[in-house]
Amino acid sequence: MSSAMRMQGKRAIVTAGASGMGRAGCMLFAQQGATVAVVDLHAGRTAAVVAEVTAAGGRARGFVADLSTPEECRRVIAEAATWLGGIDVLWAHAGSPGPVAVEGIDVGELNAAVALNLTSALLCAGEAAPHMRQAGGGALLFTSSVAGLVGSTFSPVYSALKFGLVGFTQSLAQRFAADGIRVNAVCPGPVDTPMLPAFMGRNVDAAGQAANQARIVAAVPLGRLARPEEVAHAALWLLSDDASYVTGVALPVDGGYVAR
Ligand SMILES: NC(=O)c1ccc[n+]([C@@H]2O[C@H](COP(=O)([O-])OP(=O)(O)OC[C@H]3O[C@@H](n4cnc5c(N)ncnc54)[C@H](O)[C@@H]3O)[C@@H](O)[C@H]2O)c1
Repeated sequence: MSSAMRMQGKRAIVTAGASGMGRAGCMLFAQQGATVAVVDLHAGRTAAVVAEVTAAGGRARGFVADLSTPEECRRVIAEAATWLGGIDVLWAHAGSPGPVAVEGIDVGELNAAVALNLTSALLCAGEAAPHMRQAGGGALLFTSSVAGLVGSTFSPVYSALKFGLVGFTQSLAQRFAADGIRVNAVCPGPVDTPMLPAFMGRNVDAAGQAANQARIVAAVPLGRLARPEEVAHAALWLLSDDASYVTGVALPVDGGYVAR
């Protein structure tokens, strides 16, 4: 263990940690010295990430939960805190594309999107904050999106929810500052994870999905998708003491998308 490790001794929770950016975060945080609670709906993939972390010499345990249910959010953060012996770091990363529609929107789909994107982040943060306060401080990170910084014709509901997380970030940063808890958001552009084709494929066939994806990549100045690890590195920085004077920020990790 070198002193250059950026999460040495940190007790970390990553939600939606079994795939994509969350998985990359679990691997990176553990490699940087954190003990990681991997929270996800998918039991098999959660176990696989725990095995990967362990094989690489890190320390992790899986916690299976459906975070679209308030009781599950509370239960799983409490269980993870018990296992970890406290919480220093939470990446509330879980989210879903939600419905494309506005006219004739299915309210059940809308409520499901609110539950996972907004309510789960709120509840997980609310459950984790007292543990961080008890530890004398900590760091919270939400996963917003470039759609949380600029509007999205394709996905107005998703955009509204991701904007909501930015408001929550700025508000909690102020509320929790006196407790030594920093609160930030990461705003990825298009990232090469299983969620991207699901996001781009709503209400269209395979050709429409490919066209949607080509359109978004064309709007990225760097001209490509992000790799999950590129977002995980931003998350590591925001959650580590390297970012000790950074709070209330919504950081685009987007290849220049919002700079256009
Ligand atoms: N992929 C992108 O292009 C992109 C861009 C911006 C923001 N995001 C955001 O990133 C997050 C998704 O991460 P990803 O792209 O790494 O996705 P991913 O598809 O690789 O992983 C999503 C994970 O979430 C888990 N999950 C789904 N529903 C859940 C639930 N109810 N409870 C607990 N876990 C659940 C899945 O099992 C899966 O492991 C979301 O918040 C999304 O809005 C993604």
